[in-house]
Amino acid sequence: SADKLVDRHGRAISYLRISVTDRCDLRCRYCMAEAMTFLPRAELLSLEEIALIAERFIARGVRKIRLTGGEPLVRRDMVELAWRLGRQVGAGLDELTLTTNGTRLAGHAEELFAAGMRRINVSLDSRDPERFRYITRHGDVTQVLDGIAAAKAAGLRIKINMVALKGLNEDEIAPMLAWAADEGHDLTLIETMPLGQIDEDRADRFLPLPRVLADLRDRFDLAPDGHRSGGPARYWRLAGSDTRLGLISPLTGNFCATCNRVRLSTDGKLHMCLGHDDSVDLRAAIRGGGLAEVDARIGEALARKPEAHDFRIEAGAAPAVARHMSVTGG
Ligand code: GTP
Ligand code: 5AD
Ligand code: SF4
Repeated sequence: SADKLVDRHGRAISYLRISVTDRCDLRCRYCMAEAMTFLPRAELLSLEEIALIAERFIARGVRKIRLTGGEPLVRRDMVELAWRLGRQVGAGLDELTLTTNGTRLAGHAEELFAAGMRRINVSLDSRDPERFRYITRHGDVTQVLDGIAAAKAAGLRIKINMVALKGLNEDEIAPMLAWAADEGHDLTLIETMPLGQIDEDRADRFLPLPRVLADLRDRFDLAPDGHRSGGPARYWRLAGSDTRLGLISPLTGNFCATCNRVRLSTDGKLHMCLGHDDSVDLRAAIRGGGLAEVDARIGEALARKPEAHDFRIEAGAAPAVARHMSVTGG
């Protein structure tokens, strides 16, 4: 059947996140190990398969699609996918958007806007070149800042994603908010989540956001803002600016009760929850039985969407989920 997407907890699914590649040109320490094994290219969904599956979700009520990775812009046909799905913006879709690390953004910003994107999220954990290099292991912050500037010039609204990291970028959070306000960007702070084995202990870097927010409210005029972007962030408005501060606090403030999302992995698995292993294989469905089979499997998947994740950050603990964030795009 091709009914609307409502799970057994009564949550309507209106947001599909699609990881177009698990590969990345960076190796952020909280995200990946230095040595990573990526999926063989033969395992990936083709662009056509992604588009066909996405169109089934749109037909069943999804209004927002975000392309993620890994780094989506390292996949050669990513922009073609943006053009294909961009045709649905203003029709089946309210929003087509992207989460990128920004390293290749400068060369693609105008085309992304032309394809129908209006707003993108760019990861930027530090604006200091040495620190940025340390956190990402390989990154050149100048490329990312150039990418952000190009995106702004192309007319894209930008939300900066900053994972709050104790002892690494803690002291840069307030300056990042001031910079975002100067530039007319939004800023979202994210608590580090226990997905995938990395080379350090996430507990050493975990920074609870309630503390960070209290500190920011001492320094900035921040008012609660009812704005919802359709994602997990809760927002504050910075007085005298267009800037919103978003907080994504899965550890200190579980938001699963209002979850509206599912995610399609690079190899075509539909993951109902970021915090669980369970998935259904839409690649097998589309290759074995076509779109009717995809529809049936989506229905089954929804019926098993977990109520909540069970993330904890504890010294020495194994990650809650073995796969890395990059497989499902967060
Ligand atoms: P907006 O459309 O701007 O609200 O974006 P978004 O927050 O939905 O997307 P983005 O890709 O920028 O994700 C920011 C952070 O939110 C990433 O760390 C994601 O992993 C995390 N995130 C997104 N959805 C979920 C979720 O359902 N559960 C948890 N725990 N984290 C999520
Ligand atoms: N915990 C929290 N955020 C993460 N990201 C990647 N890995 C993790 C993790 N383990 C962030 C990236 C990017 C967003 C999609 O997810 O920095 O901004
Ligand atoms: Fe790449 Fe993003 Fe992970 Fe950094 S956080 S390694 S940029 S996928």
